[in-house]
Amino acid sequence: MSRSESRIIVALDFPAEEPALQLVEQLTPERCRLKVGKEMFTRLGPGFVRELSGRGFDVFLDLKFHDIPNTVAAACRAAADLGVWMINVHASGGPRMMEAAREVLAQQPERPLLIGVTILTSLAQADLEAIGYAGSPQDNVLRLARLAEAAGLDGVVCSPQETQALRAAVQPGFRLVTPGVRPLWAATGDQKRVATPADALRNGADYLVIGRPVTAAADPLEKLDLIQQELAAVP
Ligand code: C5P
Repeated sequence: MSRSESRIIVALDFPAEEPALQLVEQLTPERCRLKVGKEMFTRLGPGFVRELSGRGFDVFLDLKFHDIPNTVAAACRAAADLGVWMINVHASGGPRMMEAAREVLAQQPERPLLIGVTILTSLAQADLEAIGYAGSPQDNVLRLARLAEAAGLDGVVCSPQETQALRAAVQPGFRLVTPGVRPLWAATGDQKRVATPADALRNGADYLVIGRPVTAAADPLEKLDLIQQELAAVP
Protein backbone atom coordinates (compact mmCIF):
# COMPACT_ATOMS: atom_id res chain seq x y z
CA MET A 1 0.00 0.00 0.00
CA SER A 2 3.03 2.23 0.22
CA ARG A 3 2.94 5.24 -2.05
CA SER A 4 6.33 6.61 -1.06
CA GLU A 5 9.81 5.32 -1.81
CA SER A 6 11.32 7.41 0.95
CA ARG A 7 13.14 5.88 3.91
CA ILE A 8 12.59 9.07 5.90
CA ILE A 9 9.77 9.23 8.45
CA VAL A 10 9.27 12.76 9.79
CA ALA A 11 8.14 12.76 13.44
CA LEU A 12 5.28 15.24 13.78
CA ASP A 13 5.72 16.27 17.42
CA PHE A 14 3.64 19.42 17.88
CA PRO A 15 1.31 20.55 20.67
CA ALA A 16 -1.45 21.59 18.24
CA GLU A 17 -2.79 20.97 14.74
CA GLU A 18 -1.96 24.34 13.19
CA PRO A 19 1.87 24.22 13.39
CA ALA A 20 1.80 20.56 12.37
CA LEU A 21 -0.25 21.31 9.23
CA GLN A 22 1.91 24.34 8.47
CA LEU A 23 4.87 21.97 8.30
CA VAL A 24 2.97 19.28 6.37
CA GLU A 25 2.06 21.85 3.72
CA GLN A 26 5.76 22.26 3.02
CA LEU A 27 6.40 18.51 2.68
CA THR A 28 5.52 16.04 -0.07
CA PRO A 29 4.58 12.33 0.16
CA GLU A 30 7.31 11.42 -2.33
CA ARG A 31 9.99 12.83 -0.07
CA CYS A 32 8.90 11.54 3.35
CA ARG A 33 6.45 9.62 5.44
CA LEU A 34 4.94 11.00 8.65
CA LYS A 35 4.84 9.71 12.23
CA VAL A 36 1.94 10.57 14.53
CA GLY A 37 2.53 9.74 18.19
CA LYS A 38 0.54 9.61 21.40
CA GLU A 39 0.49 13.36 22.02
CA MET A 40 -0.92 14.43 18.67
CA PHE A 41 -3.27 11.47 18.42
CA THR A 42 -4.66 12.09 21.90
CA ARG A 43 -5.18 15.78 21.15
CA LEU A 44 -6.40 15.59 17.59
CA GLY A 45 -7.75 12.08 17.13
CA PRO A 46 -8.35 9.94 14.04
CA GLY A 47 -9.48 12.96 11.99
CA PHE A 48 -5.93 14.29 11.99
CA VAL A 49 -4.58 10.97 10.75
CA ARG A 50 -7.20 10.88 7.97
CA GLU A 51 -6.23 14.44 7.03
CA LEU A 52 -2.60 13.37 6.54
CA SER A 53 -3.55 10.21 4.62
CA GLY A 54 -5.93 12.30 2.52
CA ARG A 55 -2.98 14.43 1.52
CA GLY A 56 -1.29 11.27 0.22
CA PHE A 57 1.16 10.67 3.07
CA ASP A 58 2.06 7.25 4.47
CA VAL A 59 1.40 7.53 8.21
CA PHE A 60 3.24 5.62 10.94
CA LEU A 61 0.77 5.61 13.85
CA ASP A 62 3.17 5.32 16.80
CA LEU A 63 0.80 4.35 19.63
CA LYS A 64 2.84 1.39 20.97
CA PHE A 65 -0.13 -0.78 21.92
CA HIS A 66 0.36 -3.01 24.99
CA ASP A 67 -2.66 -4.83 26.47
CA ILE A 68 -4.34 -8.23 26.43
CA PRO A 69 -4.31 -9.92 22.99
CA ASN A 70 -8.00 -9.31 22.27
CA THR A 71 -7.76 -5.57 23.04
CA VAL A 72 -4.54 -5.06 21.08
CA ALA A 73 -5.95 -6.93 18.09
CA ALA A 74 -9.08 -4.74 18.14
CA ALA A 75 -6.97 -1.59 18.40
CA CYS A 76 -4.83 -2.75 15.46
CA ARG A 77 -7.96 -3.34 13.39
CA ALA A 78 -9.14 0.19 14.22
CA ALA A 79 -5.75 1.57 13.16
CA ALA A 80 -5.88 -0.42 9.91
CA ASP A 81 -9.35 1.02 9.24
CA LEU A 82 -7.73 4.47 9.33
CA GLY A 83 -5.60 3.45 6.34
CA VAL A 84 -2.26 3.98 8.05
CA TRP A 85 0.96 2.53 6.62
CA MET A 86 2.66 1.34 9.83
CA ILE A 87 1.65 0.66 13.45
CA ASN A 88 3.45 -0.72 16.48
CA VAL A 89 2.94 -2.84 19.60
CA HIS A 90 5.19 -3.62 22.58
CA ALA A 91 6.98 -6.92 22.05
CA SER A 92 6.91 -7.41 25.84
CA GLY A 93 3.14 -7.90 25.47
CA GLY A 94 4.21 -11.43 24.56
CA PRO A 95 3.90 -13.86 21.64
CA ARG A 96 0.13 -14.36 21.92
CA MET A 97 -0.49 -10.60 21.88
CA MET A 98 1.75 -10.07 18.85
CA GLU A 99 0.25 -13.05 17.02
CA ALA A 100 -3.28 -11.77 17.68
CA ALA A 101 -2.28 -8.41 16.19
CA ARG A 102 -0.71 -10.06 13.14
CA GLU A 103 -3.70 -12.35 12.59
CA VAL A 104 -6.26 -9.55 12.70
CA LEU A 105 -4.21 -7.46 10.28
CA ALA A 106 -3.85 -10.39 7.87
CA GLN A 107 -7.62 -10.15 7.32
CA GLN A 108 -7.37 -6.52 6.18
CA PRO A 109 -7.39 -5.82 2.45
CA GLU A 110 -4.52 -3.32 2.77
CA ARG A 111 -2.74 -4.07 5.97
CA PRO A 112 -0.31 -1.74 7.72
CA LEU A 113 3.20 -2.92 8.57
CA LEU A 114 3.27 -4.24 12.16
CA ILE A 115 6.36 -3.23 14.11
CA GLY A 116 7.50 -4.26 17.60
CA VAL A 117 8.91 -2.01 20.31
CA THR A 118 11.63 -3.89 22.20
CA ILE A 119 13.26 -1.99 25.07
CA LEU A 120 12.57 1.74 25.27
CA THR A 121 15.85 3.62 24.98
CA SER A 122 14.90 5.57 28.11
CA LEU A 123 15.43 2.36 30.16
CA ALA A 124 18.94 1.79 31.52
CA GLN A 125 20.29 -1.42 33.05
CA ALA A 126 19.12 -0.40 36.56
CA ASP A 127 15.58 0.23 35.28
CA LEU A 128 15.48 -3.21 33.68
CA GLU A 129 16.64 -4.81 36.94
CA ALA A 130 13.93 -2.89 38.82
CA ILE A 131 11.22 -4.40 36.62
CA GLY A 132 12.77 -7.86 36.86
CA TYR A 133 14.52 -8.19 33.47
CA ALA A 134 17.85 -10.04 33.65
CA GLY A 135 20.67 -9.26 31.21
CA SER A 136 21.87 -6.12 29.47
CA PRO A 137 19.58 -3.80 27.49
CA GLN A 138 21.09 -5.23 24.28
CA ASP A 139 20.42 -8.84 25.38
CA ASN A 140 16.80 -7.90 26.00
CA VAL A 141 16.48 -6.03 22.70
CA LEU A 142 17.78 -9.05 20.78
CA ARG A 143 15.54 -11.48 22.68
CA LEU A 144 12.42 -9.39 22.14
CA ALA A 145 13.26 -8.74 18.47
CA ARG A 146 13.59 -12.50 17.87
CA LEU A 147 10.26 -12.99 19.64
CA ALA A 148 8.67 -10.34 17.40
CA GLU A 149 10.13 -12.00 14.32
CA ALA A 150 8.88 -15.43 15.42
CA ALA A 151 5.40 -13.96 15.97
CA GLY A 152 5.39 -12.80 12.34
CA LEU A 153 5.83 -9.06 12.89
CA ASP A 154 7.34 -7.03 10.06
CA GLY A 155 10.15 -5.43 12.08
CA VAL A 156 11.14 -3.55 15.21
CA VAL A 157 11.97 -0.03 16.31
CA CYS A 158 15.60 0.19 17.46
CA SER A 159 18.21 2.74 18.44
CA PRO A 160 21.14 3.40 16.09
CA GLN A 161 23.36 1.57 18.62
CA GLU A 162 21.35 -1.62 18.20
CA THR A 163 20.90 -1.63 14.43
CA GLN A 164 24.04 -3.51 13.50
CA ALA A 165 23.62 -6.34 16.04
CA LEU A 166 19.95 -6.67 15.13
CA ARG A 167 20.64 -6.74 11.41
CA ALA A 168 22.93 -9.71 11.99
CA ALA A 169 20.36 -11.47 14.21
CA VAL A 170 17.20 -11.24 12.07
CA GLN A 171 16.15 -12.11 8.52
CA PRO A 172 17.00 -9.58 5.78
CA GLY A 173 13.37 -8.57 5.16
CA PHE A 174 12.72 -7.77 8.83
CA ARG A 175 12.41 -3.96 8.95
CA LEU A 176 14.52 -1.90 11.34
CA VAL A 177 13.04 1.51 12.14
CA THR A 178 15.55 3.85 13.76
CA PRO A 179 15.04 7.13 15.63
CA GLY A 180 17.92 9.13 17.16
CA VAL A 181 19.15 10.15 13.72
CA ARG A 182 21.13 13.36 13.42
CA PRO A 183 22.84 14.69 10.29
CA LEU A 184 26.20 16.30 11.09
CA TRP A 185 24.71 19.75 10.40
CA ALA A 186 21.88 19.34 12.97
CA ALA A 187 21.81 19.95 16.73
CA THR A 188 21.62 16.75 18.77
CA GLY A 189 19.15 18.30 21.27
CA ASP A 190 18.20 15.82 23.99
CA GLN A 191 19.24 12.79 21.90
CA LYS A 192 22.37 11.27 23.43
CA ARG A 193 23.33 8.26 21.32
CA VAL A 194 22.85 9.40 17.76
CA ALA A 195 23.88 8.28 14.30
CA THR A 196 24.04 10.16 11.03
CA PRO A 197 21.54 9.14 8.35
CA ALA A 198 24.35 7.55 6.30
CA ASP A 199 25.65 5.53 9.28
CA ALA A 200 22.14 4.40 10.25
CA LEU A 201 21.61 3.16 6.68
CA ARG A 202 25.03 1.48 6.52
CA ASN A 203 24.26 -0.29 9.81
CA GLY A 204 21.13 -1.78 8.31
CA ALA A 205 18.25 0.59 9.13
CA ASP A 206 15.34 0.47 6.68
CA TYR A 207 13.53 3.59 7.87
CA LEU A 208 14.85 6.63 9.73
CA VAL A 209 12.59 8.53 12.13
CA ILE A 210 13.71 12.15 12.03
CA GLY A 211 12.02 14.96 13.92
CA ARG A 212 13.60 18.27 14.79
CA PRO A 213 16.34 18.39 12.11
CA VAL A 214 13.42 18.72 9.67
CA THR A 215 10.51 20.01 11.76
CA ALA A 216 12.48 22.86 13.32
CA ALA A 217 14.14 23.94 10.05
CA ALA A 218 13.27 27.21 8.32
CA ASP A 219 13.16 25.26 5.04
CA PRO A 220 12.13 21.66 5.84
CA LEU A 221 12.20 20.50 2.20
CA GLU A 222 15.75 21.70 1.80
CA LYS A 223 16.76 19.65 4.87
CA LEU A 224 14.90 16.60 3.58
CA ASP A 225 16.75 16.91 0.28
CA LEU A 226 20.08 17.13 2.13
CA ILE A 227 19.27 13.95 4.07
CA GLN A 228 18.10 12.23 0.88
CA GLN A 229 21.37 13.15 -0.86
CA GLU A 230 23.34 11.79 2.10
CA LEU A 231 21.39 8.51 1.90
CA ALA A 232 21.74 8.30 -1.89
CA ALA A 233 25.54 8.53 -1.55
CA VAL A 234 25.70 5.38 0.59
CA PRO A 235 26.93 2.54 -1.64
O1 C5P B 1 13.23 15.32 17.05
P1 C5P B 1 13.79 13.94 17.04
O2 C5P B 1 14.50 13.59 15.74
O3 C5P B 1 14.67 13.65 18.23
O4 C5P B 1 12.52 13.00 17.13
C1 C5P B 1 12.62 11.61 17.22
C2 C5P B 1 11.28 10.97 17.32
O5 C5P B 1 11.46 9.58 17.59
C3 C5P B 1 10.39 11.49 18.46
O6 C5P B 1 9.02 11.37 18.03
C4 C5P B 1 10.69 10.54 19.58
O7 C5P B 1 9.61 10.41 20.49
C5 C5P B 1 10.91 9.23 18.84
N1 C5P B 1 11.76 8.28 19.52
C6 C5P B 1 13.04 8.55 19.94
N2 C5P B 1 13.80 7.61 20.57
C7 C5P B 1 13.30 6.41 20.77
C8 C5P B 1 12.02 6.10 20.37
C9 C5P B 1 11.25 7.06 19.73
O8 C5P B 1 13.51 9.64 19.74
N3 C5P B 1 14.06 5.50 21.34
